[in-house]
Order: sequence, then C-alpha cells, then structure tokens
Amino acid sequence: MSNQLPRILTGDTPTGSLHLGHWVGSVRRRVQLQSTHDCYFIIANMHAFTTRSDKPQEIRRDSIEIVRDYLAMGIEPDRATIFLQSEVPAIAELCFLFAMLLPFNRVMRNPTLKEEIKVKGLGENYSFGFPLYAVGQTSDILSFRPVGVPVGEDQVPHLELTREVARRFNQMYCNVSEHAEDEDHVKLGGVFPIPRAEVGKVGRLIGIDGINKMSKSLGNAIFISDEPKEVEKKVKRIFTGRQSPTDPGDTTNALFQYVETFIEDEARVAELRDRYSRGDNIGDGHIKVEVAAAINRLLAPMRERRAALEGRDDLVLEILRSGCQRANATAETTLAAAKNAAGLGFFSRTLAFV
Ligand code: TRP
Repeated sequence: MSNQLPRILTGDTPTGSLHLGHWVGSVRRRVQLQSTHDCYFIIANMHAFTTRSDKPQEIRRDSIEIVRDYLAMGIEPDRATIFLQSEVPAIAELCFLFAMLLPFNRVMRNPTLKEEIKVKGLGENYSFGFPLYAVGQTSDILSFRPVGVPVGEDQVPHLELTREVARRFNQMYCNVSEHAEDEDHVKLGGVFPIPRAEVGKVGRLIGIDGINKMSKSLGNAIFISDEPKEVEKKVKRIFTGRQSPTDPGDTTNALFQYVETFIEDEARVAELRDRYSRGDNIGDGHIKVEVAAAINRLLAPMRERRAALEGRDDLVLEILRSGCQRANATAETTLAAAKNAAGLGFFSRTLAFV
C-alpha cells in the first residue's frame, strides 16, 4: 500500500453510469494520481439521499454501477481506496461535532448550495439534511486528513467550509494559534491539516448536442458502456451547423473540441485544424469517422474491463468491502484523535465487519 505518498481524497455522489464527460472532467486525472498519491475515493451514497430519499434501491444500484465504471476506467483497487460513505461511521460522528463549529447562516451562505436549490427547483421545501450535506462533506474530507482534494470549480465553496472547520477545530481544541499559517497547523499540534482544493485545469466536455455540458439527464452523453456502433452513431449526431467541406470551419465548435480531446496524434490534430479552418475540402463526416475511431480506441480496454464485471456484483462488493475496511482504519484513527482533543475520549473501540 502506498502509505508514504501524500494523501488526497475526492469522490462522487452516485447518479448513474459514467460517461466521457466524467472521464475528461475527473476520472482521467484520478487514474494518474494513483501512482503519485495515496488516493481515497468516496462514493457519497448518503448525499444521494438529500434529493432521492424515496429511491433507495436506485441509489444502491447507482453506487455499485459507479464503482464498476471506476474500475473499467482504470482505477485500481489495490492502489486506491474506493469506499462507501455510509459504511464509515466516523464520518457521521465527526459531522455532528463539526456542525457545532459552524454558524447556521454560514452554511446557508454557501453558493453551491444556493445554486443547487435553484437548479433543482427545491424552493423552500428542501430537507434539513440538504444543507447538512455541506457539513457532511467537510467530514468526508477531514476524516481522512488529506493534504489535497482534487475537485471541479463548483466544489470550491465546500472546500472553503472544510478549511474553516479544520482551522476552528484546531484553534478551539488543540491550542493552535489564530495566527498560525495553514501549513503549520499539524506541526503546532492540530488534529487536522488544512486541505487544499486542487482545481487544476479540468476539462468540461460538451455533449453531442453541441450546446450543453455532457450530462446523462440531457440525453447528450456517450457512455463508457456504449458499443462501438453506438459511439459512431452518436458522434455522427454532433451538431456543427456547417454546410459544406469547403466552408471554413469553426475550430472552437463541438466537433473540434472532440478532435482536440480524443485524437492523440498531435500532428494529425494540427493538420485537421489547419484544413478545417481553411475549408480545405474536409467534411464534418470525415472528421467524425476519425473522432469515433479515437473514442473507440480509448473505450476498448474500458469495455473489456467492464464486461468482466458484468453481472458480478459480488466482485464489486468485495472490492468495496476491502476499501471500506481500509477507509475505516484511517477514519477511526482520526475520530479517536478528534474526540480526545474535544474532551470526548472516554473509551476506545474497534470497528469490525463480520
Ligand atoms: N459533492 C460532491 C459532488 O457532488 C461529491 C462529494 C461528496 C465529494 N463528498 C466529497 C467530493 C468529498 C470531494 C470530497 O460531486
């Protein structure tokens, strides 16, 4: 196990099968991080209950499905720890404690929460658990004491809240000075490091409609599980509005974003860009054939790994079980340290799956 490597944690709320947008936006980076970091990937299945508490079986199926897709995309369970939020009780326990360190109106000021309330049309009728999830996310992260959290821009407000909770805890219960630098908190006796949001240059893949971000619910996604023919069909649908192979093409359009994202041969991309922009007798249809072939080359090994796990929920659950065991070993240690610091260290305990 990669114990000497710097630790990172990130994850997803399970919402269904993963598509190329997930690959470009986050999973590709995670696959790379496995060789340089001690990686923890959380399946935030309790968070799925914030808006779908009436569909527990769907959440359960999505949770297994997302792990299957992670594995298909190249996350290796011997190197990275994949685990279920609901199987790590320390997260819920720390959440309760952290909730006391945050003013209620501070939580409600979180712009990501406000945006979700708007986008999902929750109005005033969201559950108490909905804003609580933001506090829960601070606990998802801090339970593992990572140095960094690779996320998209939309998650940065949650990271700000996390950093605030960590500072406040260390100041209140570990005698860390208010003037301490973030980097020094642990050295000065703090239980928690102040984790950085690692936003990086994450790709955002446009859907095959050529308009919106790729998303399952918008019906504009290419899934990891799509067959080669299906991929060809979907790529053919990418909308550009271009009429003729001799029209100068717009190299910022959706089709060209796919060229830049999926065709690996740089020289070929440069050549296509040149001919497309000049309208040098190169049709969209021709480019689409090349794009589909490139996507199919990327997906081939993923399909194979995915097929090996088809109908094998038992294998997926076994991987999750050992991930949850490792996650609990780490989180229980954090919880014990936090409880001790907060005067709650009465008895020690062990946690075991039977
Ligand atoms: N809120 C994140 C999302 O919707 C998922 C998530 C839950 C997460 N807990 C996390 C991400 C901890 C990073 C770290 O995508």
